[in-house]
Amino acid sequence: MTFVSSSPQGIVTTTPGTDATWWRQAVVYQIYPRSFADSNGDGVGDLNGITSRADYLQALGVDAVWLSPFYPSALADGGYDVDDYRDVDPMLGTLEDFDRMVAALHARGIKVIVDIVPNHTSNRHAWFRQALAAGRGSDARERYIFREGRGPDGAEPPTDWLSVFGGPAWTRVGDGQWYLHLFAPEQPDLNWNRPDVREDFLVTLRFWADRGVDGFRVDVAHGCAKDMSEPLPTRAELTQGWQGPHPYEDRDEVHEIYASWRQVFNSYDPPRFAVAEAHVPAHRRPRYASAEGLGQAFNFDLLQAPWDAAGFHQVITDNLTLAKESGSSSTWVLSNHDTTRHATRYGLIGADGKAPGGQDGKAWMVAGADPADLYRELGLRRGLAATALILALPGSTYVYQGEELGLHQVTDIPDEARQDPAFHRTPGVEVGRDGCRVPLPWTAVGPSFGFGDASAHLPQPADFARHAVATQWPDPESPLGIYRQLIRTRRALITEEEALTWLPSAPGVLHFARPGGWHCVTNFGVTSCPLPAGRLLTSTRPIEDGLLPANTTVWLQLDSDQRS
Ligand code: GLC
Repeated sequence: MTFVSSSPQGIVTTTPGTDATWWRQAVVYQIYPRSFADSNGDGVGDLNGITSRADYLQALGVDAVWLSPFYPSALADGGYDVDDYRDVDPMLGTLEDFDRMVAALHARGIKVIVDIVPNHTSNRHAWFRQALAAGRGSDARERYIFREGRGPDGAEPPTDWLSVFGGPAWTRVGDGQWYLHLFAPEQPDLNWNRPDVREDFLVTLRFWADRGVDGFRVDVAHGCAKDMSEPLPTRAELTQGWQGPHPYEDRDEVHEIYASWRQVFNSYDPPRFAVAEAHVPAHRRPRYASAEGLGQAFNFDLLQAPWDAAGFHQVITDNLTLAKESGSSSTWVLSNHDTTRHATRYGLIGADGKAPGGQDGKAWMVAGADPADLYRELGLRRGLAATALILALPGSTYVYQGEELGLHQVTDIPDEARQDPAFHRTPGVEVGRDGCRVPLPWTAVGPSFGFGDASAHLPQPADFARHAVATQWPDPESPLGIYRQLIRTRRALITEEEALTWLPSAPGVLHFARPGGWHCVTNFGVTSCPLPAGRLLTSTRPIEDGLLPANTTVWLQLDSDQRS
């Protein structure tokens, strides 16, 4: 078995004339580039590493990959602190490597989505350097959000707002002014009222679209538009019964920005795709997902939902309704680079000390969570059943690298190896997100389990040998074997009709049908349950005596629904 492929030569990297709706029900595989594959033995994954695994991605059967940022960055926030939006970090390669990667993926029928980070630049971006050098009152400072401090000598930050990663949302510079950073101090927020900021992002979108990328994932899409007119509200005012638009979250004007992006997307053939990371109340999501805006929006509802049939049912019905409202397709996500891996979430003991009840996405992000409280096998079983369920739903499924290997959150990363600003700024109260970003195991042996020729930039646990791609590849009952089978089967079954019909089922069981007689049944309960009669398409665990085991999903073709 080898997945190391050379990049094909002479391949055109754009795909004009292809189906403009390819994304509606795509299986999108999220790559965290620094942790996917390391081609040059420096311990950090890179673009040539991705190219070398193009055959793997094709064999997995995914329709598209989404790359978390690979731009030049000092890694204050895993690459979401961007120094230059139109280049590749030298640790990860060059623009030519990028072109080769796109060509290799396109040659295998895989689309490429890149991450755009518009809410903030890094503090090493040319604009921020200029802003610091130019001083208070300068035009360069207007590209960011600089304010005078409070108190007699301005030594207090302008407001008591907190950064998402802990600590104040303002940092003071040498001449005494403060700048806003909703994330790390190395991520100063941009002022989107500036025409040159707006124009520059259009240039960036065209830059990557011209290089053949098929779409964009838009980071913190709810945050760009801000009203920073004074007096600014306090944190307490904002959290306790604040009426009217929030100064920096989900403001209506943000959609003007995306309407202008849409014009750029639609100037390509096929139009470029975009998906919003918008942390907003569910009823506000459709605007981000509308055809005049970004076109699709993540819902993270299943990241918060416990392993529970009624909860899943609610999330699914709500989101299918929202998708209808926006005209877009739904998105389904169980894991990503910000969240505890779902196999781990579903395997944690509940607060009552009894069987795992499912936990929210931050379960392992609190220091002191005890790894002994994790039922690894049970979590994995439930994880596979949940994956099979969402792969049967209408809409796109986002798969995060390593979940197909059944990886758990890595919980024992030593403090000195931790990278996430959330760990360093709380300090240590939140362990941060490193545990889901540990480099992938490709082989059972080697200094970093085949990730590269050196040890990896985050330490990998010994049990990664068992999870390695090479270990699982021959085994159809391994997590990888099950993912491949599911994706392959989905491809054969899916139609353009984004419809779903719920069918009556026992408590703790969800049963729905898709067009063409494809049925999905998930048993969330603790005992086996009867199965409707039909032809078995695939199952996340073997069916025993015609019964569906606990924590299992099965896909069936029901005789009564067969198409003639
Ligand atoms: C998004 C990213 C996250 C990052 C943050 C700031 O939420 O997914 O990884 O830390 O934005 O850019």
